[in-house]
Amino acid sequence: MNKADAAREYLSTLALFEDEIYLPAKADVSKPAQPVSELRVLDGSLQPLPASLAELEQQIKDCTRCALGHTRTKFVFGDGDAKARIVFVGEAPGHDEDQTGVPFVGRAGQLLNQMLSEADFDRKDVYICNTLKCRPPGNRDPEPEEKATCRPYLRAQLSLISPEIIVCLGKHAANELLGTDLPMKELRGRVIPWEGMQLLVTYHPAYYLRNMSQKVHGDADFKLLRELFDKLN
Ligand code: URA
Repeated sequence: MNKADAAREYLSTLALFEDEIYLPAKADVSKPAQPVSELRVLDGSLQPLPASLAELEQQIKDCTRCALGHTRTKFVFGDGDAKARIVFVGEAPGHDEDQTGVPFVGRAGQLLNQMLSEADFDRKDVYICNTLKCRPPGNRDPEPEEKATCRPYLRAQLSLISPEIIVCLGKHAANELLGTDLPMKELRGRVIPWEGMQLLVTYHPAYYLRNMSQKVHGDADFKLLRELFDKLN
């Protein structure tokens, strides 16, 4: 049995947070992870999933399948350990990320780094990416069509990394992966089984920048993440 399967078995034996688990309507927890095996590439054709994240990035970095591909400065693929056991999924690149090509490097990113280190994680040991790979002009919300166009890229990243835990930073990432528009307050603070992985939802760090008094919720969510991760070890 590999490490991930052993961890999953351990978790199901423990029935971790059993009476708190919220199962979103569209998440099928009865099936194991269903890795993506094909990827729709730039010319619209279906190609086998590349062997590595680096190859995937090469394949998609010039994407112009939606309008954001024409307004971005840099394509923001993702950052961190390609074999990470935890993947954080944010919303979309902002100004600083668009300039540098690296996710979460602006003020929200600095707060994310701080929260990671407060929970005794090192950013280089996790993987960080976004629902969208290109910046929406003026940092507006991602449009449903943009999310749909970028969806195969995120799914391919998750398949290649195959993490044990996914953390959704904010409602766009949560809605994208869980297929639910339930309010954040109903989603956060829980461990949600998702396609053979464990998924946590927390508010986006930018929300805490606007409402520092709410960061206590983020602190609690990162504490839960630390406990969940430690139980996997
Ligand atoms: N906000 C996000 O959702 N992603 C980033 O990369 C930066 C800010």
